[in-house]
Amino acid sequence: MSRLVIEGGAPVCGSIAVHGAKNAVLPILAASILCDDGVNVIHNCPDLRDVNITIEILRYLGVKVTRMGNTLTIDARKRLGCHIPEHLMQQLRSSIIFMGAIVARNHKAKISMPGGCELGPRPIDLHNKALAELGCTIKEKKGYLFVRARKLKSKTLTLSFPSVGATENTMLAACLTPGVTVLENAAKEPEIVDLANFLNAMGASICGAGTSTITIHGVTRLHAADYTVMPDRIAAITYLCCAAVTGGNITLHNTVPEHLETALSELAKCGCRVEAQNHTVRLVAPPRLMAIENITTAPYPGFPTDAQSLFLAMLTLADGTSSICERIFKSRFKVAEELQKMGASIAVQADHAMISGVSSLKGAQVSACDLRGGAALVIAALAAKGTTEIDNIHFIDRGYDNLVANLNHLGANVKRI
Ligand code: EPZ
Repeated sequence: MSRLVIEGGAPVCGSIAVHGAKNAVLPILAASILCDDGVNVIHNCPDLRDVNITIEILRYLGVKVTRMGNTLTIDARKRLGCHIPEHLMQQLRSSIIFMGAIVARNHKAKISMPGGCELGPRPIDLHNKALAELGCTIKEKKGYLFVRARKLKSKTLTLSFPSVGATENTMLAACLTPGVTVLENAAKEPEIVDLANFLNAMGASICGAGTSTITIHGVTRLHAADYTVMPDRIAAITYLCCAAVTGGNITLHNTVPEHLETALSELAKCGCRVEAQNHTVRLVAPPRLMAIENITTAPYPGFPTDAQSLFLAMLTLADGTSSICERIFKSRFKVAEELQKMGASIAVQADHAMISGVSSLKGAQVSACDLRGGAALVIAALAAKGTTEIDNIHFIDRGYDNLVANLNHLGANVKRI
């Protein structure tokens, strides 16, 4: 089992380019199966565990996928399978997005329940309800979902919560459905906009992505597209936190600063100097970070739940007491226990964490419990005195391309063993 060994104390300084967004590329890869008369070319695809498992799913379905650097070509012209086995479905949450895509192409699908990081209950009721409203019958038998829709039908439907995944599944199922589907209370995350842009590049007609109401005019066929995936906003925030917590100075290229607005404004409240221009963000950290009174996670454009663990780690060293409220995923605070092993002072009560900033953390043996929790341990370790060993790093591999090389390039001392 690999682990990361981090010698803390060096300020994270310098510049790097941020890789393509995991949470955009995964639904885009699923969407690529909707094109049966050409080869999609998708650029800026990071080399991540979740992307590689999605490629395995595509190949299992009969799709030809080739990678040249960060560019994937996807040839789904052959007859497409309808079934994804449990051992593939269970490896990531976003495998559920194939439900809408397979049904749109084949009118039936057999998939098991998805897996993914354990962040508390992650039901799929909103996905099922939306697809049922579009005309699917969904039966669950022995852990498998059997989905059928002889004819999908367009309609106006409303999500009871703006779920990212359910919004994506609805867009995929509806884009080849005759008529006009209107999705209300849709998720507004930038990754939704990226998926809509990709589908539109294939000839779909989707407007309103990025707002609460998405309108999808069904088209009869989609053609191949050449598309570049958006930059990863959570990876960008991770590197900014690495610099902020170590008294560093970092310039990130290949970013979309407006996607980072909420996090950048919180970093400014901590005393960081933040400058954003075109596709570049620069952060200069203060000698000591200041505490933040209250961060509450919320759907976009609110503070992202994926950045919560990163801030939790960073604020353990801030001057004063910070408070974080987690409103999206119940078990996001699991990482607090690991941070405590490093000397952090965090009191968790239900969905609240109170963080009393300490003047230093010490290296320890810790274990990643999910993707962003793992990244949070990296942030803490970079600032800690001494050596930290992080195991279970397969979680971190889900979402960070080239993490070790990037951090070493920025002056940190990180080894993968
Ligand atoms: C996406 O997950 C992201 N994953 C997550 O990133 C991210 O944390 C999350 O959106 C919120 O921004 C991908 O895009 C692959 P949701 P998703 O459906 O789609 C509840 C990371 O680290 N819910 O918006 O699963 C759910 O339990 C990952 O990169 C239902 O109740 O998120 C949660 O409380 C982790 N029923 C809330 O909604 C449903 O049917 C948000 O979930 C669906 C969701």
